[in-house]
Amino acid sequence: MMYGITGTPGTGKSSVGTELSCRGYQVIHLVDTIQPYIIEQDRERGTAVVDEERWAKEFIPIDGFVEGHLAHYLPCDLIIVLRCRPDVLEARLRSRGYAWPKIRENAESEAMDLILSQTAVRFGDGRIHEIDTTHITIQDVTDQVERVITGADPLVYGTLDWSEYLEYYV
Ligand SMILES: Nc1ncnc2c1ncn2[C@@H]1O[C@H](COP(=O)(O)OP(=O)(O)O)[C@@H](O)[C@H]1O
Ligand SMILES: [Mg+2]
Repeated sequence: MMYGITGTPGTGKSSVGTELSCRGYQVIHLVDTIQPYIIEQDRERGTAVVDEERWAKEFIPIDGFVEGHLAHYLPCDLIIVLRCRPDVLEARLRSRGYAWPKIRENAESEAMDLILSQTAVRFGDGRIHEIDTTHITIQDVTDQVERVITGADPLVYGTLDWSEYLEYYV
């Protein structure tokens, strides 16, 4: 089974991926696989433009976890969307040294459920689980991931509403 972990930058994907690999799972940090698919650098936004469709098509599925903000482009058996309330996400990205335009863009995406919507388009049949990481530790998030993949917890998504933060970040 291939499990995807996606979410806005700062929601904790890589931290949870590292914890999962400590617990014995195979984990691929997708950022390590995109280099050959970079089309150009977007200097204004400070990001690389990736040929996402070709990258996804050529990705060989694994038995384990794939983590990264493009994980929902891959044919995962189950996709987990990590979430974080926009003001707390802002604090996490600040402590990572992100500049305001980047913080604003990510907090806005999170407030408007952008990654969840993209995921729902691709995984419309309920293979989605959402975890609100705002007030829980990386260990707790990882525990939840394990409970979901073993079927101990039901799949739930679409219960968060952070639209009140939109006016601040848009
Ligand atoms: N559940 C959490 N509680 C507190 N801080 C967290 C949590 N998850 C991640 N962080 C912190 O937020 C920052 C971004 O985490 P990271 O795992 O790199 O996110 P992502 O891979 O989604 O961009 C790091 O400084 C990390 O320690
Ligand atoms: Mg990461």
